[in-house]
Amino acid sequence: VDVPSLLTDRLELVSLGPDVLKALTGGDPEEAERASGVQFPGDWPGEHRWMFELRTGQMEKDPSCQPWLVRGIVLREDPARRVIGHINFHEPPSEGAVEIGYSIEPAYRRRGYATEAVKAMFDWAERDHGVERFIASVSPGNAASLRLTANLGFVKTGVQWDERDGEEIVFELRRGPGRS
Ligand SMILES: CC(C)(COP(=O)(O)OP(=O)(O)OC[C@H]1O[C@@H](n2cnc3c(N)ncnc32)[C@H](O)[C@@H]1OP(=O)(O)O)[C@@H](O)C(=O)NCCC(=O)NCCS
Repeated sequence: VDVPSLLTDRLELVSLGPDVLKALTGGDPEEAERASGVQFPGDWPGEHRWMFELRTGQMEKDPSCQPWLVRGIVLREDPARRVIGHINFHEPPSEGAVEIGYSIEPAYRRRGYATEAVKAMFDWAERDHGVERFIASVSPGNAASLRLTANLGFVKTGVQWDERDGEEIVFELRRGPGRS
């Protein structure tokens, strides 16, 4: 599926389809780079492996969900097109809501890139698909992500136990008429 990039002032969010993710998790970064036109961090997939494998399965089952799933984050000014992080919704909207996930490579943190990428994903979901409810699940010790969600106006709606990540605080952000 050919999914156009999302652009912000500084970033390009490049959709990574099942073939690209499969090449990455299958240990063939050259093929992943050839198929995507971007350059991946040398230690990928690393801790992202389980998530890339999960998303690959989702897209193989239903190719139309690709626009909602994994995007590599690239600096528009970087001619080498190095990936500095990734962002995705966990799945297409369910009951009008989408859950966001993101990560920025350590060397590129604290420059507002995660915030800029999250806003772009929310703008796209709201403008093109009418989504007005956004979820984020954050570990209580994740200062950066707690700050990011607070800055965007997320409010706590509960806590949950994630099999992989343990305790998480669940946040929700509502957008739409009269709210944004
Ligand atoms: C969470 C993460 C994506 C933030 O990326 P980032 O690009 O550094 O975030 P931003 O630069 O947009 O910063 C967002 C806010 O968090 C603050 N922040 C960033 N890192 C922080 C830290 N280590 N401690 C405290 N605050 C921090 C920033 O100062 C900013 O707040 P401010 O504008 O009020 O100053 C990044 O730390 C990361 O990849 N962590 C590991 C993966 C992860 O935790 N993903 C999220 C799971 S819910």
